[in-house]
Amino acid sequence: MTADVAAELHTIIDLIRYGASRFNGAGLTFGHSYDNALDEASHLVLHTLHLPPDLGPAYGQARVTGAEKAQVLALFERRVSERIPVAYLTGEAWFAGLSFKSDARALVPRSPIAELIEAGFEPWLGGRDVTRALDLCTGSGCIAIAMGHYNPDWQVDGVDISDDALALSAENKARLLADNVQFLKSDLFAGLTGRHYDLIVTNPPYVTNDETDALPREYSFEPELGLRAGEDGLDLVLKILRDAPLHLSQDGLLICEVGESERALVALLPDVEFTWIEFKVGQMGIFAVECAELIRHNARISALAATRK
Ligand SMILES: C[S@@+](CC[C@H](N)C(=O)[O-])C[C@H]1O[C@@H](n2cnc3c(N)ncnc32)[C@H](O)[C@@H]1O
Repeated sequence: MTADVAAELHTIIDLIRYGASRFNGAGLTFGHSYDNALDEASHLVLHTLHLPPDLGPAYGQARVTGAEKAQVLALFERRVSERIPVAYLTGEAWFAGLSFKSDARALVPRSPIAELIEAGFEPWLGGRDVTRALDLCTGSGCIAIAMGHYNPDWQVDGVDISDDALALSAENKARLLADNVQFLKSDLFAGLTGRHYDLIVTNPPYVTNDETDALPREYSFEPELGLRAGEDGLDLVLKILRDAPLHLSQDGLLICEVGESERALVALLPDVEFTWIEFKVGQMGIFAVECAELIRHNARISALAATRK
């Protein structure tokens, strides 16, 4: 079948269109870096042809060789039959305009926090002077490295409990020459005694047990440690809210992603002033909260965190 199909496909745009149709026809799940079939197919094709992701439209009509077609079609087949996320097939994911190495040692970079990093975290930072920042639960290192890249005068720590994730983040540090970023192994804040930050950013595991069990096959290639987070998805988030004030400067800011667990969090802590951040596409379950506000509610937060594993 592939040989027949290959004979009918001639140009870059033919390949992208065919891939997108195959992906949609197969009912794939999107959401690992790209939220639709056309963008996924474009990434797969352009990466395989060693072309830039922002290739001008004029090149869409460029013809591809038989060998190039065979390579691309083989990846399309793997995406459809095995459901492997595109980033793991290509070994690359773009985040905040930077190219990261991506493989099954850590989640595919896709957090909307990229938009905040590119906007300099304003207006949320409110002009605060940041010298030290932390990316808690760093995975591939994408948030830490992007923060360091766009803010060369910041010192950034990235922390994870997983040796696999830390190995990948170290490779990304070397790949992106992130000299102002340091990676450390730590169970949340446990290994950060004495360290203080003006800004803590975190995309921790926040998927409920039930949702984790029901996730589409694409997610089974990612480490479950990066997703599963208890009955309501808040096991780690509550501990982060409890302990963040010990590591934030007096007027420090915490920015945290909780996705769909937003509702459960607001139900548990209705009096805490979380600022739910508005993105270009709307709200994405990411809040900013001031250190002082976390201290004000520490008794209630600690009581809730104590009930978690
Ligand atoms: C949702 S992933 C986010 C990865 C990365 N920040 C990103 O945005 O792509 C959560 C990460 O938290 C890490 N993690 C899970 N439990 C942890 C813990 N107790 N302490 C530190 N990191 C943890 C996982 O290994 C995983 O890399």
